[in-house]
Amino acid sequence: MRKIILAGNWKMFKTQAETIEFVQGFKSLVDDAPVDRDIVLCVPFTDLAILSKTLHGSRIQIGAQNVHWAENGAYTGEISATMLLEIGVRYVIIGHSERRQFFGETNETVNFRLRAAQVAGLKPILCVGETKQERDAGNAEAVIFEQLAKGLLGVDQTNLVIAYEPIWAIGTGDTCEVTEANRICGAIRSKLNNSDVPIQYGGSVKSENIDQIMAQPEIDGALVGGASLEPEMFARIVNYKA
Ligand code: 13P
Repeated sequence: MRKIILAGNWKMFKTQAETIEFVQGFKSLVDDAPVDRDIVLCVPFTDLAILSKTLHGSRIQIGAQNVHWAENGAYTGEISATMLLEIGVRYVIIGHSERRQFFGETNETVNFRLRAAQVAGLKPILCVGETKQERDAGNAEAVIFEQLAKGLLGVDQTNLVIAYEPIWAIGTGDTCEVTEANRICGAIRSKLNNSDVPIQYGGSVKSENIDQIMAQPEIDGALVGGASLEPEMFARIVNYKA
């Protein structure tokens, strides 16, 4: 049985005070969600410690949005896996398209980060996905397969989550057609050596479309941006109707 993982990616949103306010509204709304669903909040670095304290003893897990590959060192502005683990972080998003697009992340650095995260004991969520241009040129699969081939070199596929996030669907309200998202998730699975790797869909996931998305057989969860910022909306996503 593949795990179902519903993860919020807050990106660069929310102060510590706003984080506490979110948890106060969110926690009780997801207490009774089916136990086979993992609930994860991937928040800015500055919110991790307070989230960890606030969520102590809760089923909600904590994720970071990046991690460096070295244990420590002269890497100004970076954070190591040990630092994350110490404050209760269990998941980490790696290779999000915004990191690739705005911060020069490559398949090679994504690979370094993935391997270091795993060695330290974090569960990485590897993001892959194509631009609109690449899709229109008929290259969606080729781009994704290259991201997988290079990103997953030497990576342990028993401790891994993949998120398919078509870039043109992120923050646009233009969700990928569910059957197409399902097809791509299946194509991703065909490239893995462990068919139990959970594959999430991300890109304009909302409370209105989550039931349809989760009804697709190849989709094992969602990575949610904008709609994870609001407690009721994200709780409705976590409590999707199967
Ligand atoms: P939106 O849900 O806001 O489209 O963002 C998706 C995303 O990038 C999650 O990582």
